[in-house]
Amino acid sequence: MANCAKIRTRSDPEEIHLKTAIVVGALGVIGRYIVEKLASLPDWQIVGLSRRRGEARERLRYLSVDLLDPADTQAKLSGLGDATHVFYAAFQAGSGPAADYAKNIDANRDMLVNSVSAIERVAPGLERVVLVTGTKYYGSHLGPFKTPAREDDARHAGANYYFDQIDWLTSCQRGKRWSWAELRPQTLCGFAPGTAMSIVPVIAVYAAILKELGQPLAFPGTAWESLYQVTESAHFANAALWAATESRCAGQAYNITNGDNFRWRDLWPKIAEAFDMPAADPKPLSLVSFMNDKAPLWDAMAKRHGLKPYRFDQVVAWPFGDYVFSCNWDVMTNLTKSRQHGFHEVVDSEEMFVRLLRRFRNEKIVP
Ligand SMILES: NC(=O)c1ccc[n+]([C@@H]2O[C@H](COP(=O)([O-])OP(=O)(O)OC[C@H]3O[C@@H](n4cnc5c(N)ncnc54)[C@H](OP(=O)(O)O)[C@@H]3O)[C@@H](O)[C@H]2O)c1
Repeated sequence: MANCAKIRTRSDPEEIHLKTAIVVGALGVIGRYIVEKLASLPDWQIVGLSRRRGEARERLRYLSVDLLDPADTQAKLSGLGDATHVFYAAFQAGSGPAADYAKNIDANRDMLVNSVSAIERVAPGLERVVLVTGTKYYGSHLGPFKTPAREDDARHAGANYYFDQIDWLTSCQRGKRWSWAELRPQTLCGFAPGTAMSIVPVIAVYAAILKELGQPLAFPGTAWESLYQVTESAHFANAALWAATESRCAGQAYNITNGDNFRWRDLWPKIAEAFDMPAADPKPLSLVSFMNDKAPLWDAMAKRHGLKPYRFDQVVAWPFGDYVFSCNWDVMTNLTKSRQHGFHEVVDSEEMFVRLLRRFRNEKIVP
């Protein structure tokens, strides 16, 4: 670790070696949890990259950069010579149905290429780049696929920016002293208000609006009976730390989920309970269409209940909800490899949903 900075802190009078993490996409539903995880540890300093800027504090700063602009990226990242680890979790969605976001290749490939090229050029002590991809690698967004999916299963046919990212990163790394690791989570769940593409605010705002309309909480899709899985963001951040620092993870891909599977059919009554509402059977609909005229209602609710001032489209992305709730096939990945290589943590998904939804209520994101 020839390139590590050294610090003295009040809490730790010994000189400690600081690792320097560059979290790319630091304000997303994944990135912000990686930032928080690392910031809670005494031996990391963190630079978060995104167009928006987060709040700096001890050992944490943010750089505002447009990763789609190669000149801006190169100029702003030229001072990151201390970088030892990169956590790549930037993302651009694209338009249309969420299942099609995987086809948004140019932007998602270019942001990775621009950022990692700029960092590895100036950082001789770079040790590992952790790339976040996802279960869409197996075609989970396209229809039924082989389950539980294993990391060495074939890629799905057709376009997916994950393939472009992986191919570029592996070829860029060849012959270098740093290594890569790739993590494949499924439907991240966290408390990241203002990050719309997340299933927890979809459920929270949908429930709040049905309650306001005096309706029971009907499941809005066709995925009622199928097996599903999710990944809590905080849990994923622990996995990212493991993947960045465990020697066995060099050059490896891992599925990362909570470690359990559930059916919406069984979970839905518990979600309804968290909102003090009666649950109802599925009533498949397009959330995009149903919510099309609800922004004024939301604004009125926000005012009446004293909610935090997020616009309707900032707080939730309905295409993402339609995508998740219409996966009427099993979505299941095999976690044996990550367990064999040392990551053993699990999360109870039912408990997680109730806990996160209550937090959205308690922190006045929804009534
Ligand atoms: N969310 C999920 O449920 C999920 C599930 C499985 C896999 N994944 C994968 O995980 C990866 C990360 O997704 P995410 O859901 O965490 O994304 P996200 O919440 O939308 O966050 C994306 C991050 O990228 C930044 N960003 C976007 N465009 C940028 C640009 N031009 N320059 C600089 N920063 C930019 C955003 O900040 P600014 O807007 O401020 O720039 C934000 O910090 C994706 O590949 C996704 O497919 C996500």
